[in-house]
Amino acid sequence: MAVLRLAVVGDPHGAWDERDAGLLQRLAPDALLVVGDLSDGQQRVPSALRRLPLPVACILGNHDAGRDASGRTLQRQLQCLGELHCGWGLRQLRPPGLAVVGARPGTAGGGFHLSKAVRAVFGPLSLEESAQRITAAAAAAEPALPLVLLAHCGPAGLGSAASDPCGRDWKHPACDWGDQDLALAVRRIQALRPLPLVVFGHMHHQLRRGQGQRRSLCVDRAGTVYLNAASVPRHGLDLAGRQLRHFSWVELDVSDPWRARVLLASQRWYGLDGQLLYEERLHQAQLAGPLPC
Ligand SMILES: [Fe+2]
Repeated sequence: MAVLRLAVVGDPHGAWDERDAGLLQRLAPDALLVVGDLSDGQQRVPSALRRLPLPVACILGNHDAGRDASGRTLQRQLQCLGELHCGWGLRQLRPPGLAVVGARPGTAGGGFHLSKAVRAVFGPLSLEESAQRITAAAAAAEPALPLVLLAHCGPAGLGSAASDPCGRDWKHPACDWGDQDLALAVRRIQALRPLPLVVFGHMHHQLRRGQGQRRSLCVDRAGTVYLNAASVPRHGLDLAGRQLRHFSWVELDVSDPWRARVLLASQRWYGLDGQLLYEERLHQAQLAGPLPC
């Protein structure tokens, strides 16, 4: 069986340093996906991602514009990332053989809203135009490559409870805070080709006001796995004083790239030496049964 191992960084908010880069070299995933909110518009994290010696795809989040409505800070982040950024576009990683399509950059969720910074950089855009851009990027992906969607906020439709993958937890009443353009694009892409995985962040795992932890994975009827990677802060210490670094982790069976499927998805906390110290397994595919006669 051919397996692709993907590490996902969820909402670093500045928590990325040289030890993360060293840890990543030990873990040696086939690719790294970064869901945005790298920092508040500083250039240190995007520059560090650019130097990584492995295939990387990234999308920027709402915090990456800083507090700069002019769009200049957001533009500088885009320049820093260069080809790593795949917002509203297609990034084909070869190796390892993976098509990554980016959703709408700079989103803060809540259905469809363009910030002043996003409008300044990308111009005004309708929900329909945004969905079309995402769908067109997926339609241009090579059929021989498995397809993954990379978004800052996940799609609408994953539930309206505070603890759902994109549920609003900071204000009553709880509601679905997912993006509607992405939901529309997902439906259209699923009509074109199989879509094994959508990864995103923005909606932090730790819920506000003592409401516990967010459900960070769900699967739809088409078999698409939706994974929220936003464990914030992603740097921590355990009770033994050991430093922890969070990655979401996905293993894809790509034996048939057109019908790639998620074998395993988990939230992982590693020690700096690469030891897997804690893991929350979210999804584990059933082993294939006997072939139908
Ligand atoms: Fe965010």
